[in-house]
Formats: sequence, C-alpha cells, structure tokens
Amino acid sequence: MEKIILTGDRPTGKLHVGHYVGSLKRRVELQNSGQFDKIFIMIADAQALTDNADNPEKVRQNIIEVALDYLSCGIDPEKATIFIQSQVPELTELSFYYMNLVTVSRLQRNPTVKSEIQMRNFEASIPVGFFTYPISQAADITAFKATTVPVGEDQLPMLEQTKEIVRKFNQVYGDTLIEPDILLPDNKACLRLPGTDGKAKMSKSLNNCIYLSDSKEEVKQKIMSMYTDPNHLKVSDPGQVEGNAVFTYLDAFSKPEHFEKYLPEYKDLDELKAHYTRGGLGDVKVKRFLNAVLEEELEPIRARRKEYEKDIPNVYRILREGSIEAEKVAAQTLKEVKDSMKINYFDDEELIKAQALRYNAQD
Ligand code: TRP
Repeated sequence: MEKIILTGDRPTGKLHVGHYVGSLKRRVELQNSGQFDKIFIMIADAQALTDNADNPEKVRQNIIEVALDYLSCGIDPEKATIFIQSQVPELTELSFYYMNLVTVSRLQRNPTVKSEIQMRNFEASIPVGFFTYPISQAADITAFKATTVPVGEDQLPMLEQTKEIVRKFNQVYGDTLIEPDILLPDNKACLRLPGTDGKAKMSKSLNNCIYLSDSKEEVKQKIMSMYTDPNHLKVSDPGQVEGNAVFTYLDAFSKPEHFEKYLPEYKDLDELKAHYTRGGLGDVKVKRFLNAVLEEELEPIRARRKEYEKDIPNVYRILREGSIEAEKVAAQTLKEVKDSMKINYFDDEELIKAQALRYNAQD
C-alpha cells in the first residue's frame, strides 16, 4: 500500500512556533525522509470559513501567509503538493455523502468541537457548517487516501471521527476508503506549547505568540519578557521549572549540542533545570540561551521566507498547480466513492440495459 500524508491548517493567522514544533517541523522531516509516496499539505480555507463566515477577507489574506510559512519551513513544492481546500470542490461533494453516516449526537460529543463552541460563544447559535466540520475533515483525509496525518493532539477527535466514517462507509458500501493513522509529536513539550505569557494556548488575541515570520528583534523582545516563575525574584531564589514557559520552550527546542555551543558549563537541560531549582540561576541567562536556541531554528526559516517573498506571484502559481494536482486525485476517489454507492448511473451499462429490459419486457 502507498504511504500518503495529508495534513493542513486553517488560514486564520500567521503560523507560530507552536505550529512549528507541533507539526510543521515533523512534516518537513517526513517529507525529506523519502518514506512517503505522496504528501499533500492543505490550506483549509473552507474550514476556516465555517467560523469566519462574516470575514472572508481575513481568510483570503492569510492564505499567502500560511503558504509562505510552509515554504519557509522547508516544505518543498517539488516533493509535496500544497493546495487550497476550496479549489478542490470534490471535497465538498464527499462531505455531503459522509454526512449520512454520522449522527448529530456523535458530532455533539466531539471534545475539540465542544471547546471551540465555548471559545467562540457559539452555544446558542452554532453554524451548521462549523458543527459538521469534522465530517469535512474526514473528506479531506480520505479523498487523498491518506495513511498518515501528522497533526497536533487537538486533532485526535477528528481522526477518530474519520476512522469511524471510513469503517462505516466500507461496511455499508464495500471496501473503498483507507483508514488513516494520526502521527503526534513524540516530544511532550511539543504537544501544546504554551504562550509566552505562560497561558495554555498561543492565541493571536492574547498577543502571546512567537511567529515564524517575526524578526530577530521581535523574537528577542518576546523571549526577554516571557513568563517564568513569579516567585523567582532574586537570582539566588530557588525557582520552579514546572509551568515555567521558558523551560517548556527549552524542552521543546533545545538539544545537547546547544549546551556545548552556548552554555558549556551545563551538560544538558537536566543540569540547567537542577541549578534553577536549587537557586542561583537568573532568568535572564536562561532566556538568552533560549533566544540563541530559537534563533538557530528560526534564522534559516526567515532567510528562506525572504527569498519566496521576492516572487509572490510564484507562490500563487505553486498553490494553483498544487490545487490542480490535488483535484485530480480527489476526483478519482470521488469516482470510486460514487461507484461504491452506485450513484454512477450513466457509467453503468448494466443498469441502463436492465431498466430497458424491465420496461420493454411486456412487449
Ligand atoms: N483542523 C485543522 C486545523 O485546525 C485543519 C484541517 C482541515 C486538517 N482538514 C484537515 C488537518 C485534514 C489535518 C487533516 O488546523
């Protein structure tokens, strides 16, 4: 069986370092591993519209941001197909048929949708499109016969929903769709990187994100004002590393080589943490180290972005070609789905013959 990746992001804002450690970095590694036959990366504009119906301009503006973020992280259009969801109308058609295989109560139980409804104060007025986006996500994944979906852990319920739809479809209509596996980051700190203010989630409205497109100065300034341990007032005070965003970021980003290079007096992160916990290690020193570590990761991303920014029409060309390629693949799957469901009336000579016979048998 072919190994195929499909994943994507809603274009509602620029991507940040949480997206990077949670999924983007892994995608690039998987892309370069040569272990996959096909890789599809989708800009999920149609899904973004399910909760931004009144603000299509926001979605429209952020498509190029997300595309630039992808390319600058090292997603290579020669190796991966980057495309825009709405430009593959087969996905909508698939969703419509999958809707018949899912109950309202099953959708209501989806924990990610539940918390998103709360976050958006949608309780009294949930748009139907938003409520059913897990079904459209199943269409995204199955249209490309994806075997592997690298995403953050908040997407786990979507993958479960997709597997259920696949099983149900295959059981009712015969083996057609492929059951995908989720691929979560294996470093725990990467599952959900906190905001720079220590809050559980990075969010544009909280102004607590470090963006992939931030300048060197912006990154430094954000790191230097990051949340640490509020009780660690003097350098000599013992400090806490749990819940301390700077250490969580180091968990996510630092490698032993970084210590050799920037902080040779410590062997590794455990030693640094032990010193902080004991007391005698100041926040500024740890933050400077984090800044150096992050810069190693972000500098090449920034440089690649600069190159792509020089030729924006080329980026749209990449998206356009990717969308054409993606549509071909989705159209083939849609055909198979309709064949299995027997909604292929005009291609089915047998059907036409049998009906003709039935009507004309009495003559
Ligand atoms: N839900 C994803 C997000 O919030 C975007 C997305 C849409 C997606 N369809 C998908 C991710 C299919 C993986 C697979 O960013």
